[in-house]
Amino acid sequence: MSPEIDQYLVRNMPYYRTVADEVDLYEAAYSVRMPMMLKGPTGCGKTRFIEYMAWKLGKPLITVACNEDMTASDLVGRFLLDASGTRWQDGPLAIAARFGAICYLDEVVEARQDTTVVIHPLTDARRVLPLEKKGELVQAHPDFQIVISYNPGYQSLMKDLKQSTKQRFGALDFNYPAHDIETEIVAHETGVSVEIAGKLVSIAERARNLKGHGLDEGISTRMLIYAGSLITKGVEPLAACHMTLVRPITDDPDMRDALDAAVSTFF
Ligand SMILES: Nc1ncnc2c1ncn2[C@@H]1O[C@H](COP(=O)(O)OP(=O)(O)OP(=O)(O)O)[C@@H](O)[C@H]1O
Ligand SMILES: [Mg+2]
Repeated sequence: MSPEIDQYLVRNMPYYRTVADEVDLYEAAYSVRMPMMLKGPTGCGKTRFIEYMAWKLGKPLITVACNEDMTASDLVGRFLLDASGTRWQDGPLAIAARFGAICYLDEVVEARQDTTVVIHPLTDARRVLPLEKKGELVQAHPDFQIVISYNPGYQSLMKDLKQSTKQRFGALDFNYPAHDIETEIVAHETGVSVEIAGKLVSIAERARNLKGHGLDEGISTRMLIYAGSLITKGVEPLAACHMTLVRPITDDPDMRDALDAAVSTFF
C-alpha cells in the first residue's frame, strides 16, 4: 500500500459492541460498494462503528469533519503555490477515491449544498471524481466507498440534504443501545463496575425522556463514558455526574433540578 494511504489504516481493533444486525448489513453494503448513511443522535456510536468496520474490512479510513465554510476544493483538492511554482494537492475525497479508502464525511449536512454535490458522480454507477481545476477525471479505486453521518432531527428546512443526495445512499439507523448493552459499553470503556455503569445508564434513560420537554437532546453514551471515567479516577459519583451529565446540556435551572433529581435517585 502506498505511503499516502497507509497512514489511514486502522491498525488496532477498535472496541465495538454489536447492537443489532448492523455489522452484517454494512458488510453486505460494502461488498457492492453501496454509499452508506449512518443516522443517529450525537454520541451513540456512529464513528466507533465505522472505525471498527474499516478495521474489520482491512480498508483505510479517511474522515472529514464537514462544516458550512467547507468548499468543494477542501474535499477535492487545490493548486498550492510554493517556491518552485504551483503544484496540485489532492483533497481527502480525491485521496480516498484514488487509493481505495472508505471516506467518512461526518455531519455532512453542515456542508453547503454546492459542496455536497461533488460527491454525486462518485455515488452513482460512474464512480468518478472530476478534478475540474486540474482537468483530471479520477476513476474511483475498486475498494473506495463513501459513508456519511447524519443526525436526524437537527435539520431545518434550510439545512438538509437534497433528495438527489439522500437517494444515493443506503442507511443504517443508530440509537442509544438497550440498557444492558449500553451498561456493558460504559463498563468496558471506563472500568467502572457493571453496577455503577447500570446506574449511569438509568440516569441517561430518565434524561432521554425529557427530550422535547425542555431538553434538546438526551444524555448520550459519550457523556456516560465521561462520567464513568471520572468515577474511575476517584471523583465522587454525584460530582462526576453534575460535571459531565447535567451542566453541559442545559442552563435552565428547572431542567438542571430535574436532572439533579435523577442523579440523586441513583447515587
Ligand atoms: N456500540 C458501541 N460499542 C462500543 N462503544 C460504543 C458503542 N456505542 C457508543 N460507544 C462509545 O460511545 C462513544 C461515542 O460514540 P461515537 O463517537 O461513535 O458517537 P457518534 O455517534 O459518532 O457521535 P457524533 O454524531 O457526535 O459524532 C465512543 O467513543 C464509544 O466509547
Ligand atoms: Mg462521530
